[in-house]
This record gives sequence, C-alpha cells and structure tokens, in this order.
Amino acid sequence: MNVMETIQKRYSVRTYAPQKVEENIKKKLRQFFTEYSPGPLGAAVRFKLLELGTVSPRELRSFGTYGMIRGAGLYILAAVEDAAGSQLDLGYCLEKVVLEATALGLGTCWLGGTFRRSRFARWMELAGDELLPVIIPVGYPAEKKRLSEAILPSGSTGRRKPWPELFFTGDAKTPLSEEEAGPYRSALEAVRLAPSALNGQPWRIIKDGEGCYRLYLKENRLYNRTLGKLRLQHIDMGIAMAHFELVAREQALPGRWDPHAPALPHSGLEQVALWDTGSS
Ligand SMILES: Cc1cc2nc3c(=O)[nH]c(=O)nc-3n(C[C@H](O)[C@H](O)[C@H](O)COP(=O)(O)O)c2cc1C
Repeated sequence: MNVMETIQKRYSVRTYAPQKVEENIKKKLRQFFTEYSPGPLGAAVRFKLLELGTVSPRELRSFGTYGMIRGAGLYILAAVEDAAGSQLDLGYCLEKVVLEATALGLGTCWLGGTFRRSRFARWMELAGDELLPVIIPVGYPAEKKRLSEAILPSGSTGRRKPWPELFFTGDAKTPLSEEEAGPYRSALEAVRLAPSALNGQPWRIIKDGEGCYRLYLKENRLYNRTLGKLRLQHIDMGIAMAHFELVAREQALPGRWDPHAPALPHSGLEQVALWDTGSS
C-alpha cells in the first residue's frame, strides 16, 4: 500500500473488535515512536503504549472515553514539552505513527477533547512542563459501526471542504485548480483528506509567485484556545504537514518544509511553514 492509499483508507475508528493487537505489532508501533520523533521544529515527542488490560475496570470508567470509544484495549499517549511549535511537532510525528498503524490494518481515532486528561496524564507520568494534548485508541476496527458513530461528522471524503475553499494561488482568494497544482496535486489532496479536530479543516495553502507552497492556519480562536495551553488546531497543522511531505517524498518531488521562512501575511491567516520547492 502506498502512502496515498493509506491516507485514503484511514478514518476515525470509534468501535473496536475484541481481537487483541499482537505483540509483534506492538513492538513495531514502539519502533515507530523512536523513528518519527523529533518533528520539523525540533520538539521531541514522548510516546507511550498504554494497555488497558493492566487498568482496573473502575479506573477504566474514570477515563471518560467510554461512550465515545468502545472496545479499544490499547492507547497511544503522546506528550511534548510546552514550547513554541511543539504541538505542531506532536501532530506531525504522531500522524506518521497513525498512518503506519493504518497500513498494518489497525484503526485509530485522534482524541483531543473527549477523554479525562488528568487520568491519562497520571499514566503518562507527565513532567511539570509537559502537555498531553491527545491520546489515540488503537486496535482492529469492529465490522459494524455503532449508529451514534455513523452519524458523526467524519469518514467519507465528501465531508471535506472542496479544493477552491482550501488551496489558492498568488493570494488568499484565487482558487488553485488541480491542473495548476501539477505534480503537487496528490500532496495537496492528501492535506484535504487529513483528520482535524471537529473536522474543522483549518489548513489553507497558497502557491506563491516562486512556485512554493505556503501553509496557513485559519484559526478558530474561540475553539483553539478553550483548552488552556492546548492548541488542537496547531496539531491539525502538523498532521497536514506530514500528509503533504509523505506524498511529495513518495512521488520524488523536490522540496522540504521550512517553518522559519519569512511570512507572507494574509488577513485572517497565520503562516505556519513554507514548502520550499527550491525552484527560485
Ligand atoms: C487533534 C484532533 C483532535 C480530535 N479530537 C476528537 C475527540 O475528542 N473526539 C472524537 O470523537 N474525535 C476527535 N477527532 C477526530 C475528528 O473528529 C476526525 O478526524 C474528523 O471528524 C475527520 O474524520 P475522519 O478522521 O474519519 O476522516 C480529533 C481529530 C484531531 C486531528
């Protein structure tokens, strides 16, 4: 399976089959934890695989995922130091692990809101300056979705914003057509299919005069700043960067993300990184 196929296959799995994740698969996941950190801004992500078999049923109920997530026996926990760009790095690194898990046939679901953070933080043994912005259940998807799950705002690509609302050329108003994107069409499509908190899809990409792709956050400040220091929409941006880069690399396209490139300001948008195609 290539990266684009894996990206197309991934969706948020909220109901899991009783089948346990095998030891050799868990070992692979732990290897990915080392392989995929640090992120492009240099923050190291600390991962942990939490086996719920080791947790008492009483404590399990206090985790607060019950109702939203059913049947998951395993969780990936991911912590970062509270520093500039660290949550973006977390999104970037963890999505690479998620896609590897997807390729192994596992289901996952990013959880940033619907769990009791303090409980998982204890299991993670968080240091004073560390944040635990998200956790991810991982396991084999149940054959049938629950009704409550089937109506959630997720799943099909039909629930994503169309190209003209996400990708632009020159300014933040002129849509970039798939033809104009040329070899970057799939990398952009991979961003469009990325998971995001509340399916908010806050990513915007503008192709600039030099042919480079500038990634912006269209922040929903009210939402992104409700959870204290946590910034779920910055995690969304890291996820988008991972998708774009993985597909670009697979297609042997030149370039790299430069998170420190001088920003080209556009009203209502925050530049996060520039994909430098090296064409200038
Ligand atoms: C940072 C982040 C946080 C999320 N938090 C939650 C959550 O708390 N509960 C939940 O059910 N889904 C959560 N999701 C999953 C999104 O709702 C889902 O990715 C989006 O609706 C798109 O659907 P898909 O993943 O099936 O493509 C989160 C996703 C991301 C990226």
